[in-house]
Amino acid sequence: MMDPSVSGPGSVSNPSFWEERYRAGQTGWDIGRPAPPFESLLVSPDCPPPGRLAVLGCGRGHDALLFARHGFTVTGFDFAPSAVQEAQTAAARSGLAVEFVRADLFTLPSSYSEFFDYVVEHTCFCAIDPSRRGEYVDVVRHLLRPGGEMIALFFAHGQPGGPPFTTNVEEIRHLFGDAFAIEQLEPARDSIESRRGKEVLGRLRRR
Ligand SMILES: C[S@@+](CC[C@H](N)C(=O)[O-])C[C@H]1O[C@@H](n2cnc3c(N)ncnc32)[C@H](O)[C@@H]1O
Repeated sequence: MMDPSVSGPGSVSNPSFWEERYRAGQTGWDIGRPAPPFESLLVSPDCPPPGRLAVLGCGRGHDALLFARHGFTVTGFDFAPSAVQEAQTAAARSGLAVEFVRADLFTLPSSYSEFFDYVVEHTCFCAIDPSRRGEYVDVVRHLLRPGGEMIALFFAHGQPGGPPFTTNVEEIRHLFGDAFAIEQLEPARDSIESRRGKEVLGRLRRR
């Protein structure tokens, strides 16, 4: 647990909370590579066809670069300036054309409305104030075109406090079930050792 605060200046809703951690190198959430469950999905028969894809709370961009490498047209969003800058540097080094945008997910311009075929979630849902989870669902729904897909790796670690704030399949079904057809929601198979049994891989289609 890093800081239980979910309101006020030290709030997880404030970019400075995250920016301070990037600057201090206190980024224990960053596994230094794309999430292995995404890597496995992209080389499996279930791999979705390429399209326009948004990565929410993309951090240093490991997952965004992975999907770009597999042919997706990727935009990564994060409101911590250092994360965006580091992601842009990584993209430039890789030679991949990924756009990284510094923005708060909850105030994205309307030009992104129904713009994406996919939204990717990995340790962003667990990073926001839990009281904003309904708003987060609305953000994902607005970003996706009808029939678009959310590909999510939810962190269900089961511990109190946060961030990361835990979740579970019942809550995910409850929050997303109206706006999304939940096509897959099951324990991820290829999690890194420290997250084994604590990640849920979801594929949710916008109705
Ligand atoms: C726990 S980190 C995960 C980063 C990345 N997904 C990873 O796995 O390394 C959460 C990220 O979400 C970003 N974030 C949190 N709330 C946000 C918001 N409202 N808008 C944009 N980014 C946000 C933070 O800046 C941070 O980079």
